[in-house]
Amino acid sequence: MSRIAYVNGQYLPHTDAAVHVEDRGFQFADGVYEVCEVRNSLIVDLTRHLDRLDRSLSELRMASPMDRKAMTVVIREVLRRNRVRNGIFYLQVTRGAARRDHFFPAADTAPTLVITAKSVDPSIARKKYETGIKVITVAENRWDRVDIKSVGLLPNVLAKQQARDAGAQDAIYIDRNGIVMEGASSNVWIVTPDGALVTRPAEHGILRGITRTTVLDVAASLQLSVEEREFTAEDMLAAREVFFTSATGTCVPIIEVDGKTIANGHPGTVASSIRDAFFDIAEKTAI
Ligand code: PDD
Repeated sequence: MSRIAYVNGQYLPHTDAAVHVEDRGFQFADGVYEVCEVRNSLIVDLTRHLDRLDRSLSELRMASPMDRKAMTVVIREVLRRNRVRNGIFYLQVTRGAARRDHFFPAADTAPTLVITAKSVDPSIARKKYETGIKVITVAENRWDRVDIKSVGLLPNVLAKQQARDAGAQDAIYIDRNGIVMEGASSNVWIVTPDGALVTRPAEHGILRGITRTTVLDVAASLQLSVEEREFTAEDMLAAREVFFTSATGTCVPIIEVDGKTIANGHPGTVASSIRDAFFDIAEKTAI
């Protein structure tokens, strides 16, 4: 079955789907995006993702290309046309196409909206949950507005590739004081030796992950002891468990950091119990 992408009002074969060469997303990374999980034909946490999209747009002083109701119709249509039961949709809004000039384009420039969807075999995530992943740490080198889900992801791309080149699967940003920030495309959690679940505050310095927010709900329902506070790379190495959260891998255990084994080198039980309860607690929207 051929994939279909939505581009500015049209549903197009994926291979023909394109934006203008002077699109500001292409020229300046002048755009924002969302990635949302689809599980068992249900969209996970759609409201929170669209709320965050609105926030990202407003921080960049960009208008939304359509209201929420219309946007939801298009998202569902893209998922249906691609017959996605398990997978993701990707949504990107840019400030539109205009003759290259750093200043904002004329106010009547239409924003660009692209929505794609793809199926992902759930067994891929399951394997990661069973084995855990290896990560490296990298020095924080991003701008200080990473709370905006902007498409400007060059540092993240370089960090991920550096991880791959080092035989690991992902990278974690550490600031100059040794504080753990977040992963290159996920938030980081630890379980301390005395059993507290810790993740850093999301007021600044990281993206406020939607999965992170819902995992806080899950943790409350499981009556886990949660601390939203900073922790260091050293704390992470001494942790009982370390894991990532993101829309593409609910709760992924980390078993090795910079070649050093975490705990006994096996995924822990806190991550798996959160994962088991996650889907029940998350908001679910039918396709
Ligand atoms: N990334 N931090 C960063 C830098 C991210 O890019 C992401 C998500 C997260 C987790 O956010 P959420 O729980 O809302 O997915 C944290 C997506 C999945 C991506 O870029 O593909």
